[in-house]
Amino acid sequence: MTFSLLLDCDPGLDDALALLLAHGDPNLDLVAVTTVGGNVSLEGTTRNALQLREYLGFHDVPIAAGAAGPLTGPTRDAAEVHGASGLGNVTLPAAVLATSDISAVDLIIQTLQAAPGTIHLVATGPLTNIALALAKEPRIVEWAASFIIMGGSYTRGNTTPAAEFNIYADPDAAAAVFAAGWTVVMVGLDLTLQAVVHAGIVERMHTLGTLGVDLVAPLATFWTNPLDDEWDGQALHDVCAVAYLARPDLFTTKPARVEVELTGTFTRGATVVDFHSAAPNAIVLTKVDVEGFWDYVHEAWANVNV
Ligand code: BDR
Ligand code: CA
Repeated sequence: MTFSLLLDCDPGLDDALALLLAHGDPNLDLVAVTTVGGNVSLEGTTRNALQLREYLGFHDVPIAAGAAGPLTGPTRDAAEVHGASGLGNVTLPAAVLATSDISAVDLIIQTLQAAPGTIHLVATGPLTNIALALAKEPRIVEWAASFIIMGGSYTRGNTTPAAEFNIYADPDAAAAVFAAGWTVVMVGLDLTLQAVVHAGIVERMHTLGTLGVDLVAPLATFWTNPLDDEWDGQALHDVCAVAYLARPDLFTTKPARVEVELTGTFTRGATVVDFHSAAPNAIVLTKVDVEGFWDYVHEAWANVNV
């Protein structure tokens, strides 16, 4: 079974590895990429997406640039995690091909409208582009075959004690997206932190040849948290969202009602997850088969030659 997807992203170490998975898995058909300001500026995330397209070889996939900052409030980045460029220490050749001449919002709408019910929308950055697309064309809710996000958590945050980065970076967009009437598949921190890149995984990455040594392992090991005594490796958050599309059998899920906190002094951007709601608006991933996940991801990445 093949799944077509549009990936809205902010590469970003783990966004880059999510793009690699979407390109490498023969059961995934990456039909379009849209970029958003997030981990680094929009200029940076778009440059990274363009460079990755040529380095990894998905030249036919259109890339459109979207929102530079959130619907309201300050623009935040995560350059302390992803490095100034967004790709850690990895330097890729400059891209020759440019972005599409339409905006990310229009590429999202047009791509979903062209094949209703068949293209999955996966978002691994702040949800600004998706909120703007919903405002312009609410029917994308019906056209998307499914909608998966990496974002939020049901315990605690990573940017503030309460909020995860993608939601914190644009809480108003996230609130609009959860209220849109579709079922949001939420791949949050509680899930993604179960599969961290420990030493054994890095060793395995090195068996991927040039791709592993020059791209995958450096991206997957760039960040270490000096404040975490139990640090065992980076989580590849966004990879989990793409993996769920291809291999839902590797994950446990629970229906829930998810609301985004917008006004709390200390909790703005938190996702409040009610697993007992009679009116669920989301499916929340709670558990991953860690070994099966790494086997799957490794095999899919291994299909790509650079
Ligand atoms: C999320 O925030 C970003 O920094 C990562 O790319 C991921 O999408 C994790 O909180
Ligand atoms: Ca991301």
